[in-house]
Amino acid sequence: MLIFRDQHLTPAQHVAFSRRFGSLETHVISEALLEGYPEIYVISNVVENGKPKGRAYAGTYWHSDLSYMAVPAMGSMMYALQIPEIGGDTMFANMYLAYETLSMGLQRMLDGLSAVHDFGHADQRYFSKRGATARLNEASRKKTPPVEHPVVRTHPTTGRKALFINPGFTSHFVDMTEEESEPLLAYLFQHITQPAFIYRHRWQVNDLVFWDNRCTIHHAIRDYGEETPRHMHRTTICGDKPVPV
Ligand code: SIN
Repeated sequence: MLIFRDQHLTPAQHVAFSRRFGSLETHVISEALLEGYPEIYVISNVVENGKPKGRAYAGTYWHSDLSYMAVPAMGSMMYALQIPEIGGDTMFANMYLAYETLSMGLQRMLDGLSAVHDFGHADQRYFSKRGATARLNEASRKKTPPVEHPVVRTHPTTGRKALFINPGFTSHFVDMTEEESEPLLAYLFQHITQPAFIYRHRWQVNDLVFWDNRCTIHHAIRDYGEETPRHMHRTTICGDKPVPV
C-alpha cells in the first residue's frame, strides 16, 4: 500500500495518474460511475436532489477488488473527498503473511486447490440486509458469472505466494460443495483477518491510497450514521490472471 496525503486532484488527474500503472477498469455497477469519467467508481452515501452520488457502503466486508472477475484487478487508487469526523476507516490485511504463517501441511494442501469467486455471494450475504442502493441488478449479475481462481497465487512482480480468497466473494472450493467447503473457509477467513495482519487506514480528506489487490484484502468499516457523508472516488487498475504456485 502507498499512502499519499494532501493531494489535490481533479478527476482527470486521478485518472491520468492511475493510467501510469496500467489500463483502467470500468466498474460493472454503471450507476456508480462518475459522469464524464467512467474510470472513476464513486463510493458514496451522499444523495443530491434525491439522486445517490455513488454506491453507498460498497466494500463493507473483506474482499479483494474484482476477484469475482476472470482477470481480477491489479490495484486500486482511492481518493477521499469527504469523510466522517469519526469512523469510516478502511482495514487492509496482508495476504503474504496470511499464507506464510500457515503450517507447511496446510500450505501444501491449499497450493493445489482452486476456489469459486462470485459477486452475487457478497450481494446475498452482505447487501441483502442493508437497503437497496448497493444491490446488483440483473444486467450486472449477467456480466459477473462465478469464476475460478487458485487459492494460492504467485505475485507476478515479487514472486511471493499469497492467499487469494476472501469472505466477500469466495463461495466454495472447486469440486466441493459449499457445505463441504465451509469449515475450512471459516478457519481461513478468521486466520487471514487476524489483527496482526491488519493495517487500519484512518482517512483524511485529500488522501490518495493505492493498494495491491493481489496480496491484500480490505474492508470498509460502516460505523457512521447515514446522515454522515462519506464520499470517495476509486480507480481500478487492470491486472492479470492469477498464476497458481
Ligand atoms: C472498496 O474499494 O471496496 C471500498 C473501500 C472504502 O470505501 O473504503
